[in-house]
Amino acid sequence: MANERSFPAALNEQIANEFGAAMQYIGAAVYYDAETLPRLAAFFYRQAAEERTHAMMMIQYLLDVDEEVRVPDISSKQTRFDDGVAPVRMALEQEERVGEEIYRLFELARESRDYRAEQFMQWFVKEQVEEVALMQDLLNIVERSKDNLLLAEDFIARETLGEDGGDDPTAPPPAGGG
Ligand SMILES: [Fe+2]
Ligand SMILES: [Fe+2]
Repeated sequence: MANERSFPAALNEQIANEFGAAMQYIGAAVYYDAETLPRLAAFFYRQAAEERTHAMMMIQYLLDVDEEVRVPDISSKQTRFDDGVAPVRMALEQEERVGEEIYRLFELARESRDYRAEQFMQWFVKEQVEEVALMQDLLNIVERSKDNLLLAEDFIARETLGEDGGDDPTAPPPAGGG
């Protein structure tokens, strides 16, 4: 079945999803911050900033190709969780879902023979592989230390988990520089 949506319209929806992911990661960070687990909190504040940057990259792309940009409403996000593993489980599900969204955007670009859109989406395909793998790693760590999350805190500090993003020269430029 042919896809009826235009790539710019679909990308505008993804901008909302990326901002939504950013807000949801702030929700997770706030939960850990309130539990005095600062490394887990910092991890999610950092992830939130990355998701915002993804949205800003998509905004810059739409500006560059002279398409309309919509700034979306974002619904309120979860800040209460049953235990210290739940936010990470939610995060992994979110990254897997975003992965599917990114693949659909890639398909749409290809189906509509929008080569610049296809090339733009390529970076996000690679990024999602890394993000899903990172959340899977973090889920392994918090599940293993769920009775004492200070062990997860030590691991994150020692291994600088999630701190190697942000200096990728192949990344698309974000609107406003970041
Ligand atoms: Fe993202
Ligand atoms: Fe992500």
